[in-house]
Amino acid sequence: MNRLTFHGHATFEIVTADGTRLLLDPYFVNNPQATVGPDHFHDGLDYMLLTHGHWDHSEDAWDLLAATGCALITSVEIAKYVSDVLGHEDAHGMAIGGGCDFPFGRVKMTSAPHGGRIDAPGAEGYTCTPAGFVLHIGETRLYFAGDTALTMDMQLLEGQVDVAILPIGDNFTMGPEDAARAADMIKPRTVIPFHYGSWPLIEQDPEYFRTLVEPRSDVLVMAPGDSYEFK
Ligand code: NI
Ligand code: MN
Repeated sequence: MNRLTFHGHATFEIVTADGTRLLLDPYFVNNPQATVGPDHFHDGLDYMLLTHGHWDHSEDAWDLLAATGCALITSVEIAKYVSDVLGHEDAHGMAIGGGCDFPFGRVKMTSAPHGGRIDAPGAEGYTCTPAGFVLHIGETRLYFAGDTALTMDMQLLEGQVDVAILPIGDNFTMGPEDAARAADMIKPRTVIPFHYGSWPLIEQDPEYFRTLVEPRSDVLVMAPGDSYEFK
């Protein structure tokens, strides 16, 4: 089985059935929900995926690239920043709508209307296109929406996604009502809410979100440290 672990706010880890380890949007040190620190990954990380450059998705990314030497999969702009400024060679840039096969599975980059600043030293002049990812790992297609508004583009994902990981915090992303409309467009088997409860401004009740979505899709509420196994 493959395993998805939530580390709070927008940070997820995936360990595939064959032991490949992926980390999405690393934010640990100042993440009020994190139950582990970046050193949790110092014993081996294979891939890091970054949806965009905001600090609550990337604050620990730059040090972890150096500490682990892992491959980075992200927008072409962040990949260029990482290679030009940080000197990290193993950075794979993608753009919205493009897909690519990796040893662990397929990654497709999806649109995510949001802000493009890269919150990192020396990143002035680099602006990324924020994104989400559809990850096809094993038999399961996971949609990690990233920080996004509700967008009609999500209709294109109908029939393409088994598990949708959707932000519900409001203010910076979709709130519960828009995320429920996204779920209705995408029609996944399971929806996992994230990007809420980290600060008072994005406080939400995931059980309210559940009432908006079930029974059309199942809602899986993950507490930080929780894991979900998938085929
Ligand atoms: Ni953001
Ligand atoms: Mn965010």
